Amino acid sequence: MAFSFFMRDQPTLEHAVDQMIPYASGRSRIRIWDAGCALGQETYTLAMILAEKMNRFAFKNVQLDATDHDSDNRFGDVISAGIYPQNELQRTPRNLLAKYFEPAPNQGYSRVKDELRSRVRFQYHDLLSLKPLGPDYCLVICKNVLLHFQPGERVEVFRMFHRALAPGGYLANENTQKLPQEVAHLFTQVAPDAQVYKKTGS
Ligand SMILES: C[S@@+](CC[C@H](N)C(=O)[O-])C[C@H]1O[C@@H](n2cnc3c(N)ncnc32)[C@H](O)[C@@H]1O
Repeated sequence: MAFSFFMRDQPTLEHAVDQMIPYASGRSRIRIWDAGCALGQETYTLAMILAEKMNRFAFKNVQLDATDHDSDNRFGDVISAGIYPQNELQRTPRNLLAKYFEPAPNQGYSRVKDELRSRVRFQYHDLLSLKPLGPDYCLVICKNVLLHFQPGERVEVFRMFHRALAPGGYLANENTQKLPQEVAHLFTQVAPDAQVYKKTGS
């Protein structure tokens, strides 16, 4: 189900970004993966948080890969255009709306400004392929997706995220998604009140 909304579980995204920024500082490319991104509401929420917390030059090094297993590429079209109905943006604070959105050509819609859109790239990806999107990610966000999987699939997807992360990189899930026992040795929880983990080992 592709249900999502802007500013959903902002505290977990903020915790993850706060952990990642000092870790990623000095990198010329900061790879972030939003896995199971739906229509990009979470991706652009994350992009706003990153833009607010990082300096302008470091933010230009961010590559935010948004993936979903949507097969007709509707998600890719929406995310590339970055155009959303204004009634979906009601939870977004006014200062962020003014800073990161502009009127879209169609009435009642707003468009994400190029400053954020240029950092985001949509790709088709099926998590159950168990193939990492790539190596060397500083942060992987996967929220409200794994609950739909079987317990054994969840374990394998966590192993795949471990392979996708750079040594010491971060992973964030929704609060109800606890780490399965089988992969507990692969991650260390770093935020007591959020499911934000640091990769252990290489
Ligand atoms: C409830 S939405 C969550 C969206 C967003 N992460 C959030 O928390 O608001 C779940 C998303 O997971 C995607 N999804 C489900 N199974 C998937 C799979 N095997 N591979 C990739 N994405 C999947 C769905 O298409 C949907 O967009």
